[in-house]
Amino acid sequence: MFTLAHLSDPHLPPLPWPGVLPLLGKRALGYLNWKRQRERIHRRDILDRIVADMQAHAPNHTACTGDLINISLPNEYGPAAAWLGTLGAARDVSLVPGNHDAYVPAFADAPVKYWGDYSRGDDGASFPFLRKRGQLALIGVSSAVPTAPLMASGRVGAAQLARLPELLSQAEGEGLFRVVLIHHPPRRKTGHHKRLLDANELRALLAQHGAELVLHGHDHINSVEVLDTLRRPLQMIGVPSASASEVSEEAAGYNLYRIDGEPGRWNVEAISRGLRGTTIVETGRKTFIV
Ligand SMILES: [Fe+2]
Ligand SMILES: [Fe+2]
Repeated sequence: MFTLAHLSDPHLPPLPWPGVLPLLGKRALGYLNWKRQRERIHRRDILDRIVADMQAHAPNHTACTGDLINISLPNEYGPAAAWLGTLGAARDVSLVPGNHDAYVPAFADAPVKYWGDYSRGDDGASFPFLRKRGQLALIGVSSAVPTAPLMASGRVGAAQLARLPELLSQAEGEGLFRVVLIHHPPRRKTGHHKRLLDANELRALLAQHGAELVLHGHDHINSVEVLDTLRRPLQMIGVPSASASEVSEEAAGYNLYRIDGEPGRWNVEAISRGLRGTTIVETGRKTFIV
């Protein structure tokens, strides 16, 4: 039995005062948006309680699917690295970045620079990375690319798409349960300004080469989409922001996956836990076989 925890989109508060110079272009709008809305939504005390609840369940591994920070200010990356350290050692925590982690072109590579230990494959390679932990293969894909103001789209890109089939096949050949981690949901129909631009290419690739589970963030809500593949249906599951207060569309939550079995017959128990009122409670539970 392997327990994988999945949380996402902490948007670590508080947002530090950036000074005036970095507040040009896209960051200025992001800063105003934070002050107008997000400051009331994302709360560190809630995030700390979510993480404490998660750790009380003693997961074997934790997956975090990005948007650690908000507008990619230079002084946001260090505190986020410290927060990652509270989740666990780099070998026990796998990270893929979100659009807010690479908000502007000058900081496109900052997630790897500051948090690379959490996003490195067993062979030392970066995205897409492959990490083997117990019966699991964690395959991390980055969809974080800088975009124009008011855009929050993502892109996997040709280089990662070219590498993925080999990693998926290798992990399948070794009889591992393949978990693909990506920030943006690989969804065909979403609002254009937030969508994964090459979702169709990724979906086709997953349909052909298969995976046992896809975990994503970005939407800040619990969601499930089932993708038809050549072999069996593939669940693509999203979680709420781990720091969201109840003024948001969906309050903070995370998922636990208890995985057991063997290739061709994996038993998965998915447990959702989240903030309801002042406590964190179980909000859903289902089992499926893949
Ligand atoms: Fe987010
Ligand atoms: Fe996002």
